[in-house]
Amino acid sequence: MQNMNSRVFQELTTPSLILDVGRVRANAARMTAIVNRQNVRLRPHIKTHKCIEVARIQTADHSGAVTVSTLAEARAFAANGYNDITYAVPIEPGKFGEVVSMVREGVDLKVITDDPSTPAGLNEVAARRGATVGVFLEVDCGDHRSGVQPESGQAMEIPRAISDASSLSFAGLLTHGGHSYGAKTIDEVKAIARQERDVVVDLAGRLRSEGIDVPTVSIGSTPSISHADDLTGVDEVRPGNYIFYDAFQATIGSCWFDDCALTVLAAIVHRSDEKIIIDAGAIALSKDRGPVDRDPGCGYGRVLDLDGNDLGLRVAGVSQEHGMIPVADPDLLEKLNVGDRVRVLANHSCISAAQHPHYNVLENGEIVERWEIHRGW
Ligand SMILES: Cc1ncc(COP(=O)(O)O)c(C=O)c1O
Repeated sequence: MQNMNSRVFQELTTPSLILDVGRVRANAARMTAIVNRQNVRLRPHIKTHKCIEVARIQTADHSGAVTVSTLAEARAFAANGYNDITYAVPIEPGKFGEVVSMVREGVDLKVITDDPSTPAGLNEVAARRGATVGVFLEVDCGDHRSGVQPESGQAMEIPRAISDASSLSFAGLLTHGGHSYGAKTIDEVKAIARQERDVVVDLAGRLRSEGIDVPTVSIGSTPSISHADDLTGVDEVRPGNYIFYDAFQATIGSCWFDDCALTVLAAIVHRSDEKIIIDAGAIALSKDRGPVDRDPGCGYGRVLDLDGNDLGLRVAGVSQEHGMIPVADPDLLEKLNVGDRVRVLANHSCISAAQHPHYNVLENGEIVERWEIHRGW
């Protein structure tokens, strides 16, 4: 297949990531408009991209506060001037030492917990080394991944234990409405956004009435923040995926397909009757299932031409390094030769990105830069 962009893409190794930076800028601007309208602060989750240059776009007109999902991200971002960081995976004792070290180096690194033994354990390490660590209580607002139940005794006891500890400060309440990904309609997403807000705003009220200061109420997922009607009582939101979006988000209505900024460039390595094989498989694309309730045939990604036009094909199967694409139309199959390249819009951009070392940055039809991805733990 040849088209106007083929020279640009032919020079890149495959599989590799293509990042449409114009779309990144537009997605960042749209979320900034949402948080300004809702009067909340944005603390974007940078796990989606793990990339300083993308974060610079995302935080161009805000405080620079970010959320991370690994201490490797925290280290990389702190080293590049990001000082206000929430590590939003529950902290465990094996990481107390590293967190305290970063706090002692001057990073405002906050952690989250839902575990009643954590305040005492973390406090001991922090006190011994003369640091004060900010700790959020993680609350389960219906996602049922982690977080205390909002009506449980622990929802009051853990904040009290953090507040009373000599070397911890209670940072507030944090929840993630990840169940918004399972919603079948926009109205359902909106209901989950209300639930995400109400659960923590209500608990914050109860804690405050017991005399416990709750500095920050923090919520957020891309679908829920994209559709939330009213965020009264919420201080900050932590969407992440919105900066790239992906086939999943477009299918569930968080964005349009044309908003998706990240694709995987792949080469055709095999053609036979009614199918092609590309060199992007489970590792390059991720094996994340798409929104099969909404689009049963979504497979592992949509196949686009080099200009980003949907060819109407899906990656139906993957093994480690192979992606299998059925092609029923013989005229189209005829045009897809070994060595030709395609772009795949995968289901979950965060997981695809985390498999690759860098982004090839696409602007005005040219690859203009290469941006590093800070992987690892
Ligand atoms: C704790 C937490 N906050 C925020 C987010 C961002 O959500 P999304 O990826 O839907 O933007 C995630 C994503 O997994 C998360 O785990």
